[in-house]
Amino acid sequence: MESSAPRTAVVWQVLRRELARAGRPLTALDVGGGTGGFAVPLAQAGHTVTVVDPSPDALAALTRRAAEAGVGERVSAVQGDGDGLGDLVPPASVDLVLCHSMLEVVDDPQKVVAALAATLRPGGAASVVVASRAAAVLAKAIGGHLAAASLLVASPDGRGDTRDRLRRRYSAETATELLSGGGLTVEEIHGVRVVADLVPGTVAESEPEALQAFELALAGIPPYRDIATQLHLLARKS
Ligand SMILES: C[S@@+](CC[C@H](N)C(=O)[O-])C[C@H]1O[C@@H](n2cnc3c(N)ncnc32)[C@H](O)[C@@H]1O
Repeated sequence: MESSAPRTAVVWQVLRRELARAGRPLTALDVGGGTGGFAVPLAQAGHTVTVVDPSPDALAALTRRAAEAGVGERVSAVQGDGDGLGDLVPPASVDLVLCHSMLEVVDDPQKVVAALAATLRPGGAASVVVASRAAAVLAKAIGGHLAAASLLVASPDGRGDTRDRLRRRYSAETATELLSGGGLTVEEIHGVRVVADLVPGTVAESEPEALQAFELALAGIPPYRDIATQLHLLARKS
């Protein structure tokens, strides 16, 4: 299965453990799964994946990618919205739900989390990636944009100015609260891209293995975890 890229290594490390724990082909759902960066490798590993995404272009690219990888029969593309999951996916029918980089842009994250929790079978797991407010504050400040950094600190949702492409950002605590509110128990939290976006670009090219090892070593350790660009949470339905 993919993924040696330092930028996603920790997410794949957690997912691989979850898949090994199950020890059987799983029924997975990737909400906001886009072009299949996670869905296609999961299908290649023998799992069945449904991707729900509102973008017809992304779904067309997903279908092409799955066919080229020879796993078209294990990947379904469904056009739809996270809020409307209940109408698209039967309740308690999924072993693993992915929701990566999507809760920052939806209208109502609480509603989406409740909907994705409802799709899970008891014991099923949710893999959730959200943008970190702390990382965005530091990135703005390091770039010399102190007013923008202050705005992000003060905003109730971790949103910047009106040009901000994200509607909200999280901390480990607020993301845990969001998932708990949907009836999920958070088991693990890791930082994604603790330093990958901070080191000089040449490091990723010249020392990819060292960078990945460094990312993995720091991902679970606060305060490094908490300044990562994104947070990955593995949560379970009891
Ligand atoms: C930043 S991309 C992330 C793609 C993929 N999950 C990943 O991590 O590589 C965000 C995706 O969320 C989708 N999206 C946006 N609003 C959505 C919504 N309300 N419900 C479901 N998906 C949505 C977009 O079409 C896009 O494919």
